[in-house]
Formats: sequence, C-alpha cells, structure tokens
Amino acid sequence: MKILIIGGGGREHAIAKKLAENPRVEKLWAAPGNGGMAAFCELVPLKATDVEGVTAFCRTHPVDYAVVAQDDPLCLGMVDALAEIGVPSFGPTKAAAEIEGSKIFAKDMMRRYGIPTARYETFDDYEKALAYVRGGAAFPLVVKADGLALGKGVLICGTLPEAEEALTEMMVNTKFGKSGTRVVIEEFLQGPEVSVLAFTDGKVIRPMVSSMDHKRALDGDEGLNTGGMGTVAPNPYYTEEVADRAMREIFLPTVEAMNKEGRTFRGCLYFGLMITADGPKVIEYNCRFGDPETQVVLPLLKSDLLTVMQACTDGTLAQTDVTFSDDCTCCVILASGGYPVKYQSGYRISGLEEAEKLAEIYHAGTRREADGTIVTAGGRVLGVTCSAHTLREAVDRAYRAADCISFRDRQLRRDIGQRALKAEGIK
Ligand code: AMP
Ligand code: GLY
Repeated sequence: MKILIIGGGGREHAIAKKLAENPRVEKLWAAPGNGGMAAFCELVPLKATDVEGVTAFCRTHPVDYAVVAQDDPLCLGMVDALAEIGVPSFGPTKAAAEIEGSKIFAKDMMRRYGIPTARYETFDDYEKALAYVRGGAAFPLVVKADGLALGKGVLICGTLPEAEEALTEMMVNTKFGKSGTRVVIEEFLQGPEVSVLAFTDGKVIRPMVSSMDHKRALDGDEGLNTGGMGTVAPNPYYTEEVADRAMREIFLPTVEAMNKEGRTFRGCLYFGLMITADGPKVIEYNCRFGDPETQVVLPLLKSDLLTVMQACTDGTLAQTDVTFSDDCTCCVILASGGYPVKYQSGYRISGLEEAEKLAEIYHAGTRREADGTIVTAGGRVLGVTCSAHTLREAVDRAYRAADCISFRDRQLRRDIGQRALKAEGIK
C-alpha cells in the first residue's frame, strides 16, 4: 500500500507512525508533513488545503489510499475530490464535514434530533444579536463564530460589555473573516471536559480511549486558548456510566442523525463533551482526529490502524477489531515562546536523540534542514509522549523527556495531567 497523508502537525506524525507499523505499508507521502515525518515519509511540498494540487499529485503518483487529517481540507471537499479520481480516503465528505464546518448546522441538527447540548440562539444580523444579549440573556454566555476559526472563534463573555465587544469583533470587524458573520450565542455549561474520538463507517461507531486536552496557554488554565498544550488518556472523568450514556444519548443518535440528513459520516468523529450535572452534553463536534488528543490515543490502539481506517471507508467496521490497551499516556507540547499570538521560528532544536530514548516525540512545527538538523517552524513544535501502566508514571516520564529538549524561547505547561491525577485520587 502506498499512502498519502494530508496535513503536517503532531497528529499527522502520530497517524503516520502508527500506519508505518503495518508491513503492508510500503510507502508514505505527507503533504506537507514536517521535520519528524521527513525521517520516514516522502514530503510533498503542497499545502493541506490545496485540493487541486493534491489531486494532481495523485494523478501522477500511485497513491492507493489517502488520509485527510485536517479540518480545512475536509471542509473544502478533499475526500470528494479524491473519490472523483478513484482514490479512496479516510475522512468525511464535504457534506458530512459540515458537522464541524458550521456550528449552526451542528447545533440545529442536535436540536432536531434531541442530542444534549447547551441551549442556544443563532444570528446573522448584528443588531438582532445585540438586542438578544441586551434583552435579559443570562451571563456568562458563550459567543461562537459559525465557521472554522483555528479554535479561536469561541468567546466566553462574563458581562454584557464583553458580549457586545465579541459580537462587534466577529460580526462587524470580521475578526474571523466570513466564519464569524454568523454566530451562535449559547448557554455557559459547567463541568469537566472530555474528548472522545470515535471511528465510524456511518453504520457502527467505535469510540476510542477518552482523553483530556489542556487548551489554555499557561499553567492552571490561565492565558489564551490554544490548539492544545498537552493531553492525557484515558480521562478519569469519563466513567463507564458516562460512557454508556454518551453512547446512547449522543454517539449513536449523531451517526443516525447524519444519515437522516443525507450526510453519512465516515472517518473519525470527535466529540467534545462536558460532563454536566445533567449528564454529558456536546460542546463541539470535530470532523477529524483531535490534536494533541491523537498523540495520546493512538499509542494505546492495539488493533491495526490501517485496517480500521479502511473499514471506516468501506463500511465494514462492524466486522473489524478495535481494541485499546489499558495503559495511560501523557503528551506535553513544547511550543515557541509567544504562542498562540506571535512567535519566532528557525531555532535549532537540541536534545532530541536523548529524549527519544525516553519518549515518543511527535513533531509539529519543525523543519529538517539539508544537513539533517531540526529547527522550529511553527507555534506548537513538538509533542513529547509517554505511555505507562499508570498516569503518574506517564506524566513523570514525559516531563523527564521534555526536559532533555531545548530550543530558544521554549514554552511549555508544567501541569499537564495534574487535574486528571487529582480526579483519579477522588475516584
Ligand atoms: P471549542 O473551540 O468549541 O472547543 O471551544 C473552546 C472551549 O470553550 C471549550 O473547550 C470549552 O472549554 C469552552 N466552551 C465552549 N462552549 C462552551 C459552553 N457552552 N459552556 C462553557 N464552556 C464552553
Ligand atoms: N485539541 C482540540 C482539537 O483538536 O480541536
């Protein structure tokens, strides 16, 4: 099998590593890939969003299967375009990717099918949205841009002036471009958050091990929202009871709803859940693997990833084994100083070899230079990942490995896994 992976983050590195374990895989390309993937994939200098470029590449190269890992190419219809030229791929069609591409679509669907989520209203008119927040809405409330916004289109507003500013920024000043001209205003929910990635072929759904993201830039959940500064799996808040309820009230109804909408979802469906006093509720759907959730979940997958992915594409997931180990994983992200706002790149990274003796290092924003040195090339640079029998051990080892690695202005959180360890103690 010759496989093309579309994307270039830590998630894609983790997917590629897992695929490479299968002896059937004889070649991996990554478009655009990164400095870590360069060690075992051929990098293709195309943007993940370049649908025309990628299809042209597939016409001239013997690609048997593609994995579309990133949200924007999925929402642009990469899977549809590849299918048109006869290349099967892992990921939802454009119509199904709308579950992430439009928050309004996702919320309205949940309302139509009775899937538990925060109460909400939608607006495409600035004056009407203003009138709503001024007319006795309960605070805090949450303002969300309808479209993709690199994880930044969600603003939690504690007061009326904050809500007014959020609406002005999104709807008038178009801070998130077209993504924010329509908004969802929703009820603020409370409780621990859980990420659940699930394989689905549109008929059955197989949840993976749960995980916990750490979205804020600084320790103690301070600072700005980021793409994710670290993860642990499993998530101790995701008890068997919660999992059963989520399956009955959320996962199965979502697969069914997408079928009824004529948008059958095949690929990895990501459920961002909040475990509220009333049970699990959907905070967001993503149409893809999470990043950095994938980096802690896939190392625990005992089944063959390629077989499972192809079963999602072919509709044979019911007959396919999807099992996970009982171990725990921790991934600590090393980012460039200043991320997620402004940062410099091009700094030499040292200590990788020593760290690799202790942990799996998934590259994200890195580049391999002609002489083999690895330099920083993005906001999130590396994901230092360890699996162990206990979460405590996984966390300790991940930090030990992380401390072997240095580059100028390196930024990391020191408390990845601490909340989960506390919750484990309480359980
Ligand atoms: P999202 O980009 O949808 O993942 O949202 C970013 C973060 O905002 C989530 O991980 C939550 O922590 C928070 N959030 C989103 N919606 C709500 C809500 N309705 N209530 C409370 N927090 C929320
Ligand atoms: N880590 C959150 C996401 O992938 O959207």
